[in-house]
Amino acid sequence: MAGLFITFEGGEGAGKTTVIQHIFQKLIAQGIDVIQTREPGGIKISEKIRSIIHDPEHLEMEERTEALLYAAARRQHLVEKVFPALEQGKVVLCDRFVDSSLAYQGYARGLGIDEVYAINQFVIQDCSPDLTLFFDIEPKKGLERIAANKNRERNRLDLENIQFHEAVYEGYQKVKARFPERIKTVQAGQSLEAVEQDAMDIISSFLNENEKGGNNEINYYGDSR
Ligand code: TMP
Repeated sequence: MAGLFITFEGGEGAGKTTVIQHIFQKLIAQGIDVIQTREPGGIKISEKIRSIIHDPEHLEMEERTEALLYAAARRQHLVEKVFPALEQGKVVLCDRFVDSSLAYQGYARGLGIDEVYAINQFVIQDCSPDLTLFFDIEPKKGLERIAANKNRERNRLDLENIQFHEAVYEGYQKVKARFPERIKTVQAGQSLEAVEQDAMDIISSFLNENEKGGNNEINYYGDSR
């Protein structure tokens, strides 16, 4: 049986990382076979790529290089961690996936959503999330939240100005319009408890509807194995 692949998306300071941890614990308590992971990262090679992309000293990094590094980290993470978990029938909760590349590199960096989607199709083959939660927060409010959170890792993208983060937000609106069936919106400007509750409600009803597993029952590895 194929598992279920659930991704979490949004701009900076939307609170999705905290909410994923909460949902992960709730699902474990319900006896659901679930893993939690993140992009870029989740496994050794992809965490190393993450530190290259996000190093605040790498200001010379060019947009296409950035898009390709996210894509490379994504591929290795899928093959080592996500595909095996889905094949074992697990629920996979992933902090960011291709939609981040479409909004950040495709739209905000100006590479083009179609162009960035094309390189990612090579990476993901036929694997797309079964459900995506978009954490909707006004960019200004999100940035205020991260400024207040001293424990949060500061990365190269955090050095971008408000216009960039507004463009990311607009990019997500375009991505949502492209995949309206898959992407559900959570109002992330509410209290943390309310955001967690809304996210959990969406996931619970989705899991109830999909007890038999998701759409990703395919040969993920294509011809490469
Ligand atoms: P986060 O782990 O705090 O969400 O940081 C990840 C950063 O990387 C965030 O600024 C969004 C960015 N990112 C992209 O620009 N493209 C991508 O494909 C992914 C996965 C993340």
